[in-house]
Amino acid sequence: MRKKLVVANWKMHGNLSTNEALIKAYLERLSALSGVDVVACVPYPYLFQAQQLLKDTNIAWGAQNISKDEVGAFTGEVSTLMLKDFGARYVIIGHSERATAYCESDENIATKFIQAQKHGITPILCVGETLIEREAGVMQMVVAKQLDTIINTYGASVFAQAVVSYEPIWAIGTGLAASGEQAQSMHEFIRNKIAEQDMKAAQSLKILYGGSVNPQNAVQLFVMQDIDGGLIGKCSLNAKDFADICDAAAHSNVNAQ
Ligand code: 13P
Repeated sequence: MRKKLVVANWKMHGNLSTNEALIKAYLERLSALSGVDVVACVPYPYLFQAQQLLKDTNIAWGAQNISKDEVGAFTGEVSTLMLKDFGARYVIIGHSERATAYCESDENIATKFIQAQKHGITPILCVGETLIEREAGVMQMVVAKQLDTIINTYGASVFAQAVVSYEPIWAIGTGLAASGEQAQSMHEFIRNKIAEQDMKAAQSLKILYGGSVNPQNAVQLFVMQDIDGGLIGKCSLNAKDFADICDAAAHSNVNAQ
């Protein structure tokens, strides 16, 4: 049913020469791997390079943000159509590192989500709570609110062609991943929330976990019923670690047919 998906989020790392080495090392380790879809989300200037090195391979590529607008006088922005020009198939939307640093509102994030879908690019919507919110026990409320703007504006059916990534902010870049149980509990909550309005969309929706995933903890996360793969930051910059994580996903494909 739901094939596992592992997405590399390079964030603002790399240059032409390190990217080439990294992509070649990905391909060496991953070109024979089946049972998992793999995507590299690269910084904008390297989309062309990703396209050149990854076309006709089993690894897709994408970006880490898009403009909410289609075209126009928006200095410094990059549109979905521009991503399409470079063969991108995925885009990360609403990552907490952007949402906080660049004050992205839920409304902006919702518009970007739809903008990507409109042009056939799969949005990877990031949601997740801070440590304070988790300690206060309001994490489900926080994540529900992050989903609600999209659900209330466009309906839950839009999640049929999307990916959601649960990324607790306290787990990003800290080395402190959520446990399989903590992540599963939130993933189940997210799927149930979509299912309340659209069962089919909920069943096909891939929900990734992101936040300090590494080769050691990947299996315990990926075997969970509602965890359909991972969004990987730091470990995606090391081809061996990333390939080991992809391998773990391929071999814990409990939901795939
Ligand atoms: P780390 O894997 O470095 O914790 O980053 C996770 C993340 O933010 C992926 O988008």
